[in-house]
Amino acid sequence: MTEILDHGPAGLARAASLLRSGRLVAFGTETVYGLGADATNGLGVAAIFAAKDRPRFNPLICHYPDPAAAFAHVAATPTARRLAEALWPGPLTMVLRRSPDCQVARLAGAGLDTLAVRVPSHPAAQKLLRLTALPIAAPSANRSGRVSPTTTQHVLDELEGRIDAIVDCGSCPVGVESTVLDLTGEVPVLLRPGGVTAEAIEAIAGPIEHARAGGTTPRSPGLLASHYAPQLPLRMSAERVAQDEALLAFGPPLSGAGLVYQLSRNSDLSEAAANLFAGLRWLDSEASVRNFRGIAAMPIPPSGLGVAINDRLRRAATPQ
Ligand code: TXA
Ligand code: MG
Repeated sequence: MTEILDHGPAGLARAASLLRSGRLVAFGTETVYGLGADATNGLGVAAIFAAKDRPRFNPLICHYPDPAAAFAHVAATPTARRLAEALWPGPLTMVLRRSPDCQVARLAGAGLDTLAVRVPSHPAAQKLLRLTALPIAAPSANRSGRVSPTTTQHVLDELEGRIDAIVDCGSCPVGVESTVLDLTGEVPVLLRPGGVTAEAIEAIAGPIEHARAGGTTPRSPGLLASHYAPQLPLRMSAERVAQDEALLAFGPPLSGAGLVYQLSRNSDLSEAAANLFAGLRWLDSEASVRNFRGIAAMPIPPSGLGVAINDRLRRAATPQ
């Protein structure tokens, strides 16, 4: 049984007590829903991998209520401190070296000597992290290889009966996962584009490098080319659409599609990011029912949040 908890004081207290006893609780953040467990509890962390059917031990992001708590577990560099000052709480994840006395279970970091840390801004996540007073390891709350959830219903569709509880936090306002930045080298490396743009990071940290997207031996082990696959084939940058295709529209929709989901009528990238995963899920299930042959996504400009949106679409478009 999966309990659904509200994000008021009683629901959060229940969620914190479950987490403190090593159970699995999904909760909303500003980016997507996470599947949380006490990061210091190896069994709890192992249960995350089991619930998601993760084929391998990808390293997980540890969530903290504030920068001081995060930096107690990793060796913060001066650049990391400047970024934290400007962009935390918010959708930025920093990969740093584990500190020698770091209590986070080795499994959470997949045995690496680095740890990904993040301070989410969502008020319910903030309260939950403070109440729990533990680092919370949380990947996105979906089955491995599927689109990240941005509502409680999405989490139920993915994990009902496999996890102890979900804190209902409404729709996630950012809608794409956090930006993952590796700060262990001389120059910061962007491992995954996400809710904070590269421009915003460079304004604080100076020039950064971009990890090659999609390779088979990525620096960020979760960044395999095919990761967000819907059931139906998806093609990007569609200029035309057929009657037996579903259209993921951005701005005025192409005509002729059998089914349309509008990411943002006014071509607003923030709105499109917030709607992206709900739209992909909806189109995928509706279009499958109607025996459509695929999903056509209209072009999204490759700047600002469009970089993260195009990255997720590219992964969804790569055959598994
Ligand atoms: O917005 C988000 O980041 C959400 C919410 C719940 O916080 N979480 C999320 O987690 O997207 P997940 O597990 O789906 O993706 C984490 C990414 C993966 O690509 C993983 O490989 C990378 O972060 N990562 C985690 N630890 C790492 C490390 N030590 N070194 C390099 N990459 C790491
Ligand atoms: Mg994920």
